[in-house]
Amino acid sequence: MIKPDAVANGYTGKIIDQIIQAGFSIQAMKYLRLSRESAGAFYEIHRERPFFNDLVDFMTSGTIVAAILVKENAVADFRNLIGATDPQKAAPGTIRNLYAKSIDANAMHGSDSDENAAIEAGFFFSALERF
Ligand code: RTP
Ligand code: MG
Repeated sequence: MIKPDAVANGYTGKIIDQIIQAGFSIQAMKYLRLSRESAGAFYEIHRERPFFNDLVDFMTSGTIVAAILVKENAVADFRNLIGATDPQKAAPGTIRNLYAKSIDANAMHGSDSDENAAIEAGFFFSALERF
């Protein structure tokens, strides 16, 4: 998912190009805006964390781009492409290093396991969109 800051700052095209050049294929993609309910459901595992309300505020602040990406070793490779959660710690050339400003507004989400990738794909896309 390209987060609201990166979409609002006009980085969508550059980020999509970087993802494709890194060897991912895009199986499905769409722009949408999350409601508080859907953002909270998406980040359900963080509901008890102190940053949860800020996270929901931020994720509902503007349009996002959701996508299903396909690649061998996709989860680990994509997290390497994104860089560390805190952009100040993200390696040079990573998406968060290039396009993110803060740990809240950090440009990009990537799934953290194959299991969660399947759940998150189902969150954004119907079976019709995923063939
Ligand atoms: P994401 O799920 O968005 O891809 O990010 P991530 O795996 O790198 O980090 P995660 O631990 O899943 O946290 C989700 C998002 O919550 C915000 N966060 N803030 N203030 C804090 O200590 C803190 N920790 C996490 C970040 O925006 C992070 O992307
Ligand atoms: Mg995460």
